Amino acid sequence: MAKKKTTIESKFLPKKVTILSYQRESADSFTIKVDFAVKHEPGQFVQVTLPGIGEAPISICSYSDKFMELNIREVGDLTKNLAKLKVGDKLFIRGPYGKGYPMKDLKGNNVIIIGGGCGVAPLRGIIDYIEQNRADYGDVKLFLGFRTPGDILFQEKIKGWGKNFDVRISVDKLPADSCFAGPVGFVTNMVKNEQIDNKNKVVFVCGPPIMMDVVIKILKEKWFNDDQIFISAERLMHCALGLCGHCMIHGKYTCLDGPVFRWDELKECKND
Ligand SMILES: Cc1cc2nc3c(=O)[nH]c(=O)nc-3n(C[C@H](O)[C@H](O)[C@H](O)COP(=O)(O)OP(=O)(O)OC[C@H]3O[C@@H](n4cnc5c(N)ncnc54)[C@H](O)[C@@H]3O)c2cc1C
Ligand code: FES
Repeated sequence: MAKKKTTIESKFLPKKVTILSYQRESADSFTIKVDFAVKHEPGQFVQVTLPGIGEAPISICSYSDKFMELNIREVGDLTKNLAKLKVGDKLFIRGPYGKGYPMKDLKGNNVIIIGGGCGVAPLRGIIDYIEQNRADYGDVKLFLGFRTPGDILFQEKIKGWGKNFDVRISVDKLPADSCFAGPVGFVTNMVKNEQIDNKNKVVFVCGPPIMMDVVIKILKEKWFNDDQIFISAERLMHCALGLCGHCMIHGKYTCLDGPVFRWDELKECKND
């Protein structure tokens, strides 16, 4: 009798996936769409592997249970080798891991999204989610900052977001030959100069740590409560399973308790 073939499906085992599309976003970043079909929350991450090269956590930047998109910045061995792949090539993914943005608990709120650089990637998953569940949320305002116009991610998507949401984009520096017409300066300046009150609002923030610290200070000056602010934290990770302790922030595992934290949860840890 022929032996029955068994397949083990587990989020702890890497799965071989195929690249369905590849989009260059800027000189050092690109977005791939892969046939990894899993249910997940916006803000969760996966572990991406190229055998013999390495593994790294990458945020899911889409919201779909039919495919997955990942925006990747070329910084080291793994990400530079991922950048060389083409449509049809294979890689390995395990996950999804971590706690994402608690979108279901936040229904009925107006939403403010503040992103800096590659921190815009996990926030893109929230925007997809809100577009698919538009009636559940009020006004949506986006403040997105990039180094230069050439670093602006998801340019095609942003055009679409502009039709449904209030989208503001700033760049830190403007090259002489640029035709970018938006504000020049840190994204934090846009937030500071905006008249925003804290009524029925939640704020999602992701970007470099210094940017997130400044944004939180500004939001506090505008009377936002700690439990209205959600941030996505990045820490070096190994197992992503709560075993190795690499990702600890003052007693919390970023891979299990995060990467998304409500600010009052993380602030309490920082004061430990
Ligand atoms: C929860 C989470 C989500 C992430 N999401 C994304 C994403 O969506 N897209 C993306 O491009 N990257 C993301 N990262 C960062 C990515 O995992 C690292 O850049 C990874 O180390 C790249 O692997 P590498 O082998 O190419 O580079 P490495 O050889 O590991 O590192 C290259 C350089 O980057 C530095 N570095 C490594 N990790 C980090 C980090 N977490 N923060 C700051 N500096 C670091 C190293 O010190 C080194 O200088 C995420 C990290 C976490 C923890
Ligand atoms: S990455 Fe190992 S405990 Fe979080």
